[in-house]
Amino acid sequence: MSTTHISPVADLETPLKFAYWVPNVSGGLVVSTIEQRTGWDFDYNKKLARIAEDSGFEYALSQTRYAASYGADKQHEATAISLGILGATERLKVIAAVHPGMWHPGVLAKWLITADHISDGRAAVNIVSGWLKDEFVNFGLDWLDHDERYVRTQEFITVLRGLLTEQDFSFKGKYYDINGFTLSPAPVDVPGRAHPEIFFGGNSTAAQGTAGRTADWYFSNGRSLEGFAENINGVVAAAASGARTAPKPPRFGLNGFVIARDTEKEAVETLREIIAKAHRPAVEGFASAVKEAGASTKDGKGMWADSTFEDMVQYNDGFRTGLIGTPEQIAERIVDFKKIGVNLMLTCYLHFQEEVAAFGRDVLPIVRELEADLARKNGTELNTDLLPITNLEGANA
Ligand SMILES: Cc1cc2nc3c(=O)[nH]c(=O)nc-3n(C[C@H](O)[C@H](O)[C@H](O)COP(=O)(O)O)c2cc1C
Repeated sequence: MSTTHISPVADLETPLKFAYWVPNVSGGLVVSTIEQRTGWDFDYNKKLARIAEDSGFEYALSQTRYAASYGADKQHEATAISLGILGATERLKVIAAVHPGMWHPGVLAKWLITADHISDGRAAVNIVSGWLKDEFVNFGLDWLDHDERYVRTQEFITVLRGLLTEQDFSFKGKYYDINGFTLSPAPVDVPGRAHPEIFFGGNSTAAQGTAGRTADWYFSNGRSLEGFAENINGVVAAAASGARTAPKPPRFGLNGFVIARDTEKEAVETLREIIAKAHRPAVEGFASAVKEAGASTKDGKGMWADSTFEDMVQYNDGFRTGLIGTPEQIAERIVDFKKIGVNLMLTCYLHFQEEVAAFGRDVLPIVRELEADLARKNGTELNTDLLPITNLEGANA
């Protein structure tokens, strides 16, 4: 095992959680003409979700997209497809991506509670501040400056949590004005969960601050170990500032594109082919649109601010996480991320159904062994009671 330093925020007892991106937009998760056996329709997603929950995945994350960009010519709405997937599964938690600015937090809270009841406590949301200006402008909605979007997001999450947990909730802010509202029914009472989980995605300084003050989970685009350690520090510092409104400390999720092959050479060749066959005009169009994200901030930090053309072929910088190699190499890398504080790996693939099953069969067992070793070497135990139920025969059928 490698010698990556163990961060004080690392949780060695709790098994890592795994999520996959719901391919609810067309074109797969890489902007490349390489063959991708990944569908975007509901039937494909229903089968994928069942494979994922049988393979040891605990979460699925949908994408919110209203207009084509970087390919993604067709899109299914995130909350609707999330609800469909919840209905088609038994254990998987589904995180629906939502933009403040497109939704009112009270309407979302109401949706979330109903989805939670339908799914017996498995509904969650990912609050994303948005970067695709055209979607907002062409819908006739306000397009706020970068950091102002996070001011609104922070209020949005505060209102959302308030309505999920309190009776007679009131709030007066710059963007929302709530007067003595009680939502009934309340969310499902799930042991260990204060309310349906609120995830949040973003990389910039403003994003880290908002996540640290408000979110249950902080999600990042793909990063190196050093890069993500920096993000974690930023979120932890904001959480420690005394202004945190969430009941527990933030937890950390990181995106990574997985290419697991029998040999490292094969995996690297697949990456090269993906990049060699990149859909150049789509990637360049995307690179121009995302200037509204991290690059537009005062300190120039944040999502895609320093991404290369190659990075952007996976539009959430998933190659940067380095989950490319043999199952053993990938498992070791994942456990190195656990050491710096990652609690959840968010994964994507070329051929989702096949590769999610292969990940559960070939990579996850090694991760579990390494996690148990790591805990033991540090004087503790991996809590195996928290491992998800798997059904590998079902997943590989
Ligand atoms: C895991 C993850 C998921 C995201 N999902 C979406 C999405 O579905 N739709 C969207 O418009 N933006 C999505 N975003 C991007 C955010 O809207 C936001 O533009 C971005 O995080 C800005 O980053 P910045 O604060 O670093 O500039 C996602 C970000 C992350 C990290």
